[in-house]
Amino acid sequence: MKILVVGGGGREHAIVKALVGSPNADRIWVAPGNAGTARDAENIPIRANDLTALVDFAQREGIDLTVVGPEQPLVDGIVERFRDRGLQVIGPTAPAAQLEGSKAFAKAFMLRHGIPTAAFQSFGREQVGEALAFAKTLGAPVVVKVSGLAAGKGAIICESTGEARETIEEILVEGSFGEAGSVVVIEEFMRGQEASVFALCDGRDYVLLSTAQDHKRVGEGDTGPNTGGMGAYAPAVILDDATLARVEEEVVRPTIRGMAEEGMPYTGFLYVGLMLTADGPRVVEYNCRLGDPEAQVILPLLKTDLAELLDACAEQRLGGLAVEHRDGAAACVVLCSGGYPGAYRKGLEISGLDDEAPGPGVAVIHAGTDLEGERVVTSGGRVLGVTAVGDGLEAALDRAYRTAAGIHFEGMFYRRDIGRKGIEFLEAG
Ligand code: AMP
Ligand code: GLY
Repeated sequence: MKILVVGGGGREHAIVKALVGSPNADRIWVAPGNAGTARDAENIPIRANDLTALVDFAQREGIDLTVVGPEQPLVDGIVERFRDRGLQVIGPTAPAAQLEGSKAFAKAFMLRHGIPTAAFQSFGREQVGEALAFAKTLGAPVVVKVSGLAAGKGAIICESTGEARETIEEILVEGSFGEAGSVVVIEEFMRGQEASVFALCDGRDYVLLSTAQDHKRVGEGDTGPNTGGMGAYAPAVILDDATLARVEEEVVRPTIRGMAEEGMPYTGFLYVGLMLTADGPRVVEYNCRLGDPEAQVILPLLKTDLAELLDACAEQRLGGLAVEHRDGAAACVVLCSGGYPGAYRKGLEISGLDDEAPGPGVAVIHAGTDLEGERVVTSGGRVLGVTAVGDGLEAALDRAYRTAAGIHFEGMFYRRDIGRKGIEFLEAG
């Protein structure tokens, strides 16, 4: 197959790595890609949001299968554009991508289908008073979310009713999030550990991939502002088999069934972010794609060929497919540019990458990198995701951290406690 991967971050490089060497992947393009995908595949200079150029390219090159990494093109309807031209593509249609693109939609959907989630209400710009009153009834802390896409910055945990008032006014009145914030979801604060479940869906059937745990805060011990994700490990050991079975029964199946019943059959990757509360697992959010950096740890655990899996998905053959995973664990440590998630510099030269094979079971996944001639330079806040597999979580982490120690660019930093929650859970037995 000729395969096109849309996107240019760590998730897309991880997808490429999983496809390289597959007997089912003859040639792989990435649009626009990064310095890492340039090494493993062929980059084409088309932005992930340029749907017309992407679909034209796919048609011209006779691409057999396109995998869409990021959410924006999915919410914008890239899947319909490809299918209209008879091209196979992995991802949800725009109506189905509302599970991520509109939190108000996702919450109302969960309510309609009895899927466990935090109590909530949604409010538009004309309802500031009602929104404030509802936030008060929930008490503090309370969570205020912009309904639309906000690059991971749209959920604000308010520690007091006063903070909730300020946040609601900033979003609804001052328009601090633009159109994405024309509706807010106000919801109950949930306590517990977070873990994510991933499924690949073909509209009728689905297969579960590995679970994973992300590290969203920039600082060790889960402190500081939220980021796109500072590291991840898989599987999420805190999600035991019984809880996972419950998530499948109470969340995954009703979601897929519900979307089909409502005329929006869900296709592509489905990411379910969960809070493991004292009352059981509840949905924090849906994403309509693989996570980043979760993809970096989920995909290396797949024993089943990814290209075959994606082909089966596109042809609605997932029903009869058994997905195999390797034993052990995977870990990813994200190397960031100084200042991230605030302002950071770009164009910093990266050293320590020369080694093509950093060691058995290790891959240096590129997220925000670019080529300047022969030099690899930073082009984003999350720059690299050093990813390793091992017989256990500790072994995987050890390999990842050792490799990270050999890489350098000015201002580079990373969290030293990725996976610690998992290790502590395992030690507690
Ligand atoms: P979201 O944008 O919905 O994924 O939220 C981002 C992060 O905010 C989540 O990963 C949680 O850490 C936190 N969060 C969101 N909603 C809640 C909630 N209802 N209770 C507690 N934490 C939440
Ligand atoms: N790592 C979180 C996300 O991809 O949304």
